[in-house]
Amino acid sequence: MKILVTGGLGFIGSHTVVELQNAGFDVVIIDNLSNASIEVLDGITSITKKAPEFEKLDLRDKLKVQAFFEEHQDIDGVIHFAASKAVGESVEKPLLYYENNINTLVYLLQELSKKGNANFIFSSSCTVYGQADQLPITENAPVKPAESPYGNTKQIGEEIIGDTCKVYNELNAISLRYFNPIGAHPSAEIGELPIGVPQNLVPFITQTGMGLRQELSVFGDDYPTPDGTCIRDYIHVVDLAKAHVVALQRLLKGANKANYEVFNVGTGKGSSVMEVIESFERVSGQKLNYKIAPRRPGDVIEAYADTTKANEELGWKAVSTLDDAMASAWKWEQKIRKK
Ligand code: WQD
Repeated sequence: MKILVTGGLGFIGSHTVVELQNAGFDVVIIDNLSNASIEVLDGITSITKKAPEFEKLDLRDKLKVQAFFEEHQDIDGVIHFAASKAVGESVEKPLLYYENNINTLVYLLQELSKKGNANFIFSSSCTVYGQADQLPITENAPVKPAESPYGNTKQIGEEIIGDTCKVYNELNAISLRYFNPIGAHPSAEIGELPIGVPQNLVPFITQTGMGLRQELSVFGDDYPTPDGTCIRDYIHVVDLAKAHVVALQRLLKGANKANYEVFNVGTGKGSSVMEVIESFERVSGQKLNYKIAPRRPGDVIEAYADTTKANEELGWKAVSTLDDAMASAWKWEQKIRKK
């Protein structure tokens, strides 16, 4: 079985390619290298001893997408990660985000709808829930008006897939709504490679731990939470990668109950910013420099998943703890800074 992974050299994409190969799938990666390094291909290969096929291709080029599918008639499934994902940047450059995250999805679905049976996994995000009214968050929680163009592209993307599946019942799709992916492969051969100043908490912590950043700013400690800092559901990226494999296998064996399904992918446990800092200090054995700073606009107070549906329907459950994930992130940070 051959699986196309778009954005397969990115953070979650590369970890998913490893798990797909471990599960016996052949993989072809499309990536335009706008937010990933070609060296990631070596990292994947050093883990699995099997080099995935790779094509540098920008999915915004409709003709190139068509040509790719004409050349690769043997694709049994597609996992679509390729997208821009920086919340702040999306506010400044909305059209870049709508072009890169929406047009590319439409071009992929146009090709898949030409095939007979097609299987499609979409990289979505808990950001579609905004600040949920009830916690933990189930898949039935209402989708709230997006706080950013990035979040809007995930909402619109899900709607496009849902509408398409209504017409093309040979197209089987699953959207996976990720909570907060963190960590790195235990081998430290692949991991997160943020470009510039990390926007996300964990890479900022590990870079501060390495002395690359002066100190972490904790964006607010006056929230209505036990320690005043925001709560998130931090999931080890390897657990998240494995969720993609089981979701794909569900479609390939026809076990899906509808031709479009949505699953939350998290641990089901919320952790505050301070708890993440404490986890880092435990696993690294060193104190972290941080200060309390003003709240970051757009932050939700608390978000963590109800994972019942994924546990029961997919037969998948996250197994790594926050310390496991933090330790893997720290090992990776130390490795890449040694180069
Ligand atoms: C987590 C917590 C911050 C940095 C975003 C996207 C989401 C997904 C994951 C792509 C928050 C606090 C952070 C810092 C801090 N991305 N923080 N100091 O915002 O939950 O989710 O990334 O799919 O779509 O919205 O993750 O890591 O940015 O922040 O205090 O320097 O850490 O305020 O409470 P977030 P995050």
